[in-house]
Amino acid sequence: MEKMVLVTGATGTVGRDVAKLLSKQGAAVRAGVRDQAKARQRFDDDIALATFDFEDDSSFAGALDGVGKVFLLPPLLANQVEVTNAFVDAAKRAGIRHIVKLSVIGIDHATQFTFGKWHAANEQHIRESGLAFTFLRPNSFMQNFVTHFSPRNGSIYLPWGNGTASFVDTRDIASVAAEVLTSDGHEGKIYTLTGPAALGIADVARILSEAAGRELKYVDVPEDAARDGMLQAGLPQWQVEPIMELHAINKQSRWSAVTSDIENVTSNPATDFAEFARDHADRFRAS
Ligand SMILES: NC(=O)c1ccc[n+]([C@@H]2O[C@H](COP(=O)([O-])OP(=O)(O)OC[C@H]3O[C@@H](n4cnc5c(N)ncnc54)[C@H](OP(=O)(O)O)[C@@H]3O)[C@@H](O)[C@H]2O)c1
Repeated sequence: MEKMVLVTGATGTVGRDVAKLLSKQGAAVRAGVRDQAKARQRFDDDIALATFDFEDDSSFAGALDGVGKVFLLPPLLANQVEVTNAFVDAAKRAGIRHIVKLSVIGIDHATQFTFGKWHAANEQHIRESGLAFTFLRPNSFMQNFVTHFSPRNGSIYLPWGNGTASFVDTRDIASVAAEVLTSDGHEGKIYTLTGPAALGIADVARILSEAAGRELKYVDVPEDAARDGMLQAGLPQWQVEPIMELHAINKQSRWSAVTSDIENVTSNPATDFAEFARDHADRFRAS
């Protein structure tokens, strides 16, 4: 019998589409989730569930039992490096053949930003484990405008100045992950996943306005105000400073390059922002 693919982060933005696409393609899928009752409502019965918590290593062996490949999505945890590395060790003990890890754009040996350093440490640990791997390094998600940067009272508040980025649709990331997990030839590869164009936030606001049929504005927030806003909203300090690092990178347009890795892997062009906006227009009509 074909071994299962374990999908971590399966209830999140990227992972839920990875699990669903794999299942649609006929793979045996197990979603590793913290709350099975909640997760069951989100998935059809063809997706098996296992209780899995990165912060509880006693959950690792059960989730990995009978699994051949893993989609590894480290969630935002202050101890990401330690818990993800411990999970990789457990995957090796369990005889996993291939780990497909979600990382982040812009990481190499000179990585300067905190979240990048964490992902780089996880990548390094996977390399040293000797397990077969594929690293997916996406740019900022288009879906951030639905989640983290959603408009408030008709405005998108970000400290990006005129900075631009080649935002990527998470549905494309999931398509790449599903392809890599179900076909040969991706071991040892690193894919940098971007959308088809670099956009500034004023461009984003214009495209979202067209899709939503109402005016959304970009408010270029001073950095201190952005920092204070996140703290007031209850984000812990350990998240706020690393997020400010990402904003600074984007203000400098450092992640504006466009790659063809999505099309090369999936044979479909990367989704452009206008399509993302049309597909999520309801989310922008009343925010
Ligand atoms: N946002 C961006 O622009 C961007 C760009 C590049 C890379 N990334 C990377 O993408 C990843 C985040 O992906 P995402 O946006 O799809 O995540 P997300 O929507 O925030 O979802 C996080 C997932 O992780 C699960 N989770 C949280 N804590 C867990 C734990 N202790 N044990 C097991 N599962 C846990 C959540 O499950 P529950 O339902 O139980 O909470 C959920 O399924 C991060 O590694 C980030 O660095 C993000």
